[in-house]
Amino acid sequence: MSTTVTTPTHVAIVMDGNGRWARARGLPRAAGHRQGAEALRRTITGAGELGIRYLTVFGFSSENWNRPAGEVQDLMGLMRHYLRSEIADLHAKGARLRVIGDRSRFDPDIVALIANAEDLTRGNDKLNLTLAISYGGRDEIVAAARALAADAAAGKLDPKSIDAAALTGRLFTADLPDPDVVIRTSGEKRLSNFLLWQSAYSELVFVDKYWPDFGKSDLEDAVHEFNRRERRYGAVG
Ligand code: IPE
Ligand code: MG
Repeated sequence: MSTTVTTPTHVAIVMDGNGRWARARGLPRAAGHRQGAEALRRTITGAGELGIRYLTVFGFSSENWNRPAGEVQDLMGLMRHYLRSEIADLHAKGARLRVIGDRSRFDPDIVALIANAEDLTRGNDKLNLTLAISYGGRDEIVAAARALAADAAAGKLDPKSIDAAALTGRLFTADLPDPDVVIRTSGEKRLSNFLLWQSAYSELVFVDKYWPDFGKSDLEDAVHEFNRRERRYGAVG
C-alpha cells in the first residue's frame, strides 16, 4: 500500500549539541560549531530536495551572548564566514535569506553583510531560509506589543481591534507561515525561547543526535514523524 507524504511547508530547527559533539571527540567547542555549519549546509540542500519551502534555524539566542567572550567571538567569526561564502550559492539556488533577531548587538560589518544578503536574495522564493540569531521569542513578542501600544497611544489603532493577527503582523516573522514542525537536536526537550508565539500548533520532534551529525535523512525522518501525527488544532479528530 502506498501512502502519500505531506511535505511540511515550514520546518524550524533548534540546532543544538555542537559543544557536546566536540567534547565527545576531545575537540574544542569551536570545532563543533564548524561542523554545525556543515550540517546546516547539508540540511539546507536537503530541505530544497524535499520540497520544504520555509526553513528557519536557531543559530544563536539572545542568551548566548552570555557565553565566554572567546566562544562568542568564534561564533561571530563563523557567521561572518558563512555570510560571505554561502550567499552566492544560496542566491544561485533561488533561496531567500532573512535574519530575525536583535541586530543592534552585532558588529557593524556583520549588520552590513546581513543587509546585503537580504537585499541580494529578496526576489527569490524557492526556499525561504531564515536565520534566527541574537533571537529571543519573548523579546520578539514584547517588541510587537510595544509597537501596537505605540500605535494605540498615537491614536492610529483602536485597542479593541487588537487581535492575534495584529500581533502576528508585528513579529519578525510577519511574512512567514507558522512552522508545521519544530525539530530540536541533542536530546534536549525544550523550546528555549524559540518561536514561542509561532509554534502554538507545531509538531515538536526531538532528535537525539547532536546537530553536527544531522543531515537530510534526519530531516526526512522528521517529515515522516510529522505525517504520523494527527493535527486537530483543538478540534475533535
Ligand atoms: C548549538 O550548540 C549552537 C549554539 C547554540 C550556538 P551548543 O553550543 O549549544 O552545544 P551544547 O549544547 O553545548 O552541546
Ligand atoms: Mg546547547
